[in-house]
Amino acid sequence: MKNYYNHLTASLLGVVLAAAVGCPAQFQKASVSPEESSVNTSDDMSAPEKERGKMSITKESFGKTPEGEEVDLYTLTNAHGLRVKIMTYGATITAVETPDRDGEVENITLSLDSLEDYLKGHPYFGSTVGRYANRIAQGKFSLDGKEYTLATNNDANHLHGGVKGFDKVVWKSEPIETDDSVGVIFTHESADGEEGYPGKLNAEVTYSLTNDNELKMEYSATTDKPTIVNLTNHAYWNLAGRGAGDILSQELTLAADRFLPVDAGLIPSGEQKSVKDTPMDFLQPQAIGSRIAQVEGGYDHCYILNKKDGEEGLTLAACAEDPQSGRVMEVYTTQPAIQFYTGNFLDGTLQAGGKTYKQHFGFCLETQHYPDSPNHPEFPTTQLKPGEKYEQSTVHKFRVR
Ligand code: GLA
Repeated sequence: MKNYYNHLTASLLGVVLAAAVGCPAQFQKASVSPEESSVNTSDDMSAPEKERGKMSITKESFGKTPEGEEVDLYTLTNAHGLRVKIMTYGATITAVETPDRDGEVENITLSLDSLEDYLKGHPYFGSTVGRYANRIAQGKFSLDGKEYTLATNNDANHLHGGVKGFDKVVWKSEPIETDDSVGVIFTHESADGEEGYPGKLNAEVTYSLTNDNELKMEYSATTDKPTIVNLTNHAYWNLAGRGAGDILSQELTLAADRFLPVDAGLIPSGEQKSVKDTPMDFLQPQAIGSRIAQVEGGYDHCYILNKKDGEEGLTLAACAEDPQSGRVMEVYTTQPAIQFYTGNFLDGTLQAGGKTYKQHFGFCLETQHYPDSPNHPEFPTTQLKPGEKYEQSTVHKFRVR
C-alpha cells in the first residue's frame, strides 16, 4: 500500500510539472518574465487556500561549528511537493528536489551529507557568495582615490569574498510564508574591514519556493561607507540528479551575445567579445559538452546578458534542459551577467550519498556583475554608497517536458 502511494505521489508530481515545452523559443530576443512563461500547473489544486495548506516550512538542527555556533537546516515544500533545503551556514542550498518526467524525484543540486563535510571545505556548493562574487585582480581596487587590499585566496587574486566569505559564516534566519510561497530571510552583518572591504555591510538574502515551482533569491545590502558589493548563489546543477554523471549532454541556452575573455588567472582582459562563430555561443540550445574540448580548461566565463538599455526587471538569462530526464530549469535575473562554470575543478575528492563528484558533474549559472569590475571603469559599477540600497533578484523555475 505504501509503495503504491509513493508511486502515485511520484506520478502526480510528474503530471503537475509536465508541459510540452522545453526552453522558450525566440530566446535570444527574450525579455520574458517568469509570469509570462508560466506553465499551467493548476490541476484541481489551484485555489490558493487549498495550496496554502499543502506548503510547509520546517527547521531542524544541522549541527554546530567548531566555534559552537548552532547551524539550522530549513526544508521548504511547495503545494506540488517540490522541496528545497537551505542551511544557515553560508546560507547554503543543500537540496532542490524535483521530479523527472516519470515523477522520480532527485536532488538536482550538488551538496554534501553533513555539516562536518561542508566544514572540511568545498567549492561553494549552493553557497551564498559575498561580499564580491568572482575575482578581483591581485585583491586590489581603488575607491574615491583610496586603494584597498583584500584577502587573496585564489593565487594572487581575491575570489568569492576571500578567506572567510559569506559562504563560511552562520547567517541569522527567519522563516516567512505568503499565500503562495514559503521562504527564509537570511541576514548577515559584515564588519567594517572584513576581508579588507571598507564599510559595515548589512546583507540580506531571501530564498523562497513558490507554488509556481520557482526558487526565488532576493538580495539586498546597505553600507555605512562607500564600498563594493556583488552577491550571488553558487549552486551546481545536475538535472539528472546529484552525482548521477557528468552534465555534458545536458543542453543550455544563454541570452548573451557577448562574453568576457579571460587570462590564465581567469581575470577579464576588459574586451567584450561576440560569441558568434565561437564555442562560446549558446544563443541556441547546445549540449554543454558539444564544444567544451575547444575551450581551454572548460567553461568558466562571464556572459554579458542581453538587456535593453536601462532594463532593470527580471529577464530570462538561461535555460537548461536534460533530454534524458526531461527536467527543464529557466533562470531569470535582474543582474547584468552570468558566470557559466562547468565544474572544471571538481576532481573526484568530494563525495555525497555514496556518489563521487568528478569533473563536469555539475554546472553553475552564477548571476552577478562582471568579475573585477572595480578595476574596469567601463564595466557596470558595483559601488554602493551610504543611503543607497543594493537590490538584485534571481528566479529559477523548474518543470519537465
Ligand atoms: C567560480 C569560479 C571558478 C571556481 C569556482 C569554485 O565559479 O569562476 O573558477 O573558482 O568558482 O571552484
